[in-house]
Amino acid sequence: MNVALFGFMGVGKSAVGRILAERNGLRFVDLDAEIEARAGKSIPSIFEEEGEAAFREIEKTTALEVAARDRQVIACGGGTVLNAESREGLSKTSRMILLTAEPATILERVEAEGETRPLLQVDDRIGSIESLLAARNPHYIRAADLIVDTTERTPQQVAEDIMNLIGGEPGA
Ligand code: S3P
Repeated sequence: MNVALFGFMGVGKSAVGRILAERNGLRFVDLDAEIEARAGKSIPSIFEEEGEAAFREIEKTTALEVAARDRQVIACGGGTVLNAESREGLSKTSRMILLTAEPATILERVEAEGETRPLLQVDDRIGSIESLLAARNPHYIRAADLIVDTTERTPQQVAEDIMNLIGGEPGA
């Protein structure tokens, strides 16, 4: 079994995933990094040179390939589970854990990480976060086995929350 962490940009999927994997002897897989390795370029370059639709296609292929493997903590991209095939593929082999955060926290975290999100290269970033969240939340919630809020919590605390909630061996 895998653990898949998903949810909006800036909720801490990668930071929490790394800790969770290490504490439980599971492999950590960052889907965005896998996509970049497969495409041979960064996500902003894929968006710029090939467009979002091409990115979503590579994202789906990569998600299905990763989902077919076992004993991993998978940090999804913010849009991964919005694709039905990817969502179903991941759900079959993974506990689906939705991480959430308040829009202001999301903005703070993505700004601290620099200009890496093509979808947030806009003037009104908080407005854009809020409207994307409103559109995505119903889909995120439907895909979730478990929902963990990360607002005002460190990645370590969130990893512990998850372990307490799922108990036992996350990879079993
Ligand atoms: C996206 C989120 C990003 C990355 C791409 C698109 C999205 O991943 O996959 O920029 O649609 O929300 P993170 O959530 O890891 O930033």
